[in-house]
Amino acid sequence: MNQMVIRGVNSQTFVAANIKRTEDFYSRILGLPVVKRTVHHHDARLPIVTFGFQSFRGEPQRGETITYIEWNPIFYMMPDGGFVEPDATRDGVANPRVGDPKGRWGAGTNHHLALHVPNRDGLLMWKRRLSDHGVHVTGPYNRHYFHAIYLRDPDGAIIEIATTEPGFGHDEAVLGSGFRPQPKENLIGGRDELQVAAETWPQPLLHVTADFALRGFHHITSISSNAEKTASFFVEKVGLRLIKKTDYLDEKGGTHFYYACDEDLSPGSVLTFFGLPGYKSGRLGTGLSHHFALEVENDAALADEHARFKKVGIEVSAIQDTVYASQFLFRDPDGHICALSTPNRFSIDEDTGCLGQKLCLPEDLEGERREIERHIAYRPAPVPVLP
Ligand SMILES: [Fe+2]
Repeated sequence: MNQMVIRGVNSQTFVAANIKRTEDFYSRILGLPVVKRTVHHHDARLPIVTFGFQSFRGEPQRGETITYIEWNPIFYMMPDGGFVEPDATRDGVANPRVGDPKGRWGAGTNHHLALHVPNRDGLLMWKRRLSDHGVHVTGPYNRHYFHAIYLRDPDGAIIEIATTEPGFGHDEAVLGSGFRPQPKENLIGGRDELQVAAETWPQPLLHVTADFALRGFHHITSISSNAEKTASFFVEKVGLRLIKKTDYLDEKGGTHFYYACDEDLSPGSVLTFFGLPGYKSGRLGTGLSHHFALEVENDAALADEHARFKKVGIEVSAIQDTVYASQFLFRDPDGHICALSTPNRFSIDEDTGCLGQKLCLPEDLEGERREIERHIAYRPAPVPVLP
């Protein structure tokens, strides 16, 4: 087993219908800086914006990032298989099928991305700030291993904000050793929803201050139609550690399994899966994640893992140079797109202090800069929001 090679979560990539609107939401409301503006490495007609966290550091950049790809055509579905292989991506962008561009979560898709604040006061501050900006917030809920609130990005993707405490170790001596049933008051039907809905921070929060600024990822949650099959894939083949087997809190009969990338169980390196037996497959599109990426230390480790994945029978893409990282893609047993990536190297074409200020293009596309910028400029303007 190869547990220490994959050292954490690198990024999650979502799809937005209007990337300017997404940027306004993340930058101005959530307080996250843009760390790269570019176009997709398979097709320059797909604009990309990446957000980091305040802790995001220079070379070599560490820390998780959230990327959005714009899929703007209002009459067309995203290509079925996603943006995985170069030729299929270009063909899918050039010849999309007529239909609804919105994604729909289900087996084989992401369910939500959880961001991290240290404590419950921070959750209440976010609830107040988001509510004051017209963003609907659910929670705070006691999730037994953390407390959490839930909201949606402008396209409907579910974002959670979760606390450090009490952590994963408080209800079993050996993590993942057995099924831990949840107390009734945490489960749907047992919660006092009116009391939860009424609780918020007493004062408005005009600025995101250090005490409640988002620190990074807490966990990433996806949906599995067969929890045991998913567990065997991620533990025996990918090399993660199963740290918690418990109930899914929001629908009776579901399970919730947690996986860690390393020995450090602090927020940021945890993946989780809702086990919803027989659940329908989802569909990629706006308001949903396209894929998430786990991280290895460097290109050599990536090449080793690429070979190892093939050896254990995981179908992998070729190693791709996305300009800002090397990566390969693979799918979990439900078809969810996952990636293994090197750390991001966003300062290869911008100074660390000025990340995200210009549209960065790979050298071979510089000759088409004017056309690409014009294409992006024709996108719809951001919607007006509160000051
Ligand atoms: Fe969660």
